Amino acid sequence: MIKVLVVGASGATGRLVVSELLERNIVVVSVVRAASSLIDTMGNHPNYQEVLANASEMPDQEISSHLKGCDVVVSCLGHNLTLKGMFGKPRHLVTDTIRKITTAILHLEPDKKIKIILMNTTGNSNRDIPEKPPLSQRFVISILRFLLPPHVDNEQAADYLRTRVGQDHAYIEWVAVRPDSLINESQVSKYIAVPSPTRNAIFDSAPTSRENVANFMANLATDSDLWSFWRGQMPVIYNDA
Ligand SMILES: NC(=O)c1ccc[n+]([C@@H]2O[C@H](COP(=O)([O-])OP(=O)(O)OC[C@H]3O[C@@H](n4cnc5c(N)ncnc54)[C@H](OP(=O)(O)O)[C@@H]3O)[C@@H](O)[C@H]2O)c1
Repeated sequence: MIKVLVVGASGATGRLVVSELLERNIVVVSVVRAASSLIDTMGNHPNYQEVLANASEMPDQEISSHLKGCDVVVSCLGHNLTLKGMFGKPRHLVTDTIRKITTAILHLEPDKKIKIILMNTTGNSNRDIPEKPPLSQRFVISILRFLLPPHVDNEQAADYLRTRVGQDHAYIEWVAVRPDSLINESQVSKYIAVPSPTRNAIFDSAPTSRENVANFMANLATDSDLWSFWRGQMPVIYNDA
């Protein structure tokens, strides 16, 4: 049976990922802060387990113990859209957590490669390809790097997977999923996944529902053909209007 560790599980997208996985009978271990426990909503499911902790501050040994037996790690972490969340500590919430998880996996030396699925953004480019976003987008993004620490964190988290984990790691494979402008819908709708953005992420962004992001991430976690197709890439996901 597949076992998935989800960090950022209490977020708007994270909890949808947890639901999607539980519906597929996957064992889910959520890492959530105490005030954000999902026990009331998910706790009745026999496959739901919860760890109350702050993902980016977990001691290495603790994170290793939760990773034991896991096949997949999903990160839906994001900075809360408050002054403290955007400009306070931890400045590198997502990157630090990804670094901690990859280091713990390295120490575990698992028999099978562990898959990491990172929720990222179309505001970030895949420099492996390389992509060349429109000049207007690059201009605004270069300003956002100074003004918005969470954007830098998102860029660095994906860069860490691209450059430090790379394409041929002994224990880790990864996919960084890039939604465009996140919206909420009542259910999964039609969507497309493409290797690179087809629109200007700043001036011509398109909706991507969190339900579709969660569905795509759950498919990645459970469908080995889909995983093989996107492994080591940064698929962009748009609602198919
Ligand atoms: N908004 C957009 O249009 C857009 C587009 C593309 C990509 N994205 C990216 O998508 C990601 C997720 O978006 P979302 O709307 O689903 O996020 P969200 O609802 O804000 O959820 C964020 C998650 O991160 C956790 N978190 C925040 N600060 C934390 C901290 N200091 N320590 C530990 N956990 C912390 C939250 O936990 P708590 O519940 O405890 O606060 C929550 O589980 C973000 O990285 C965002 O940048 C956004």
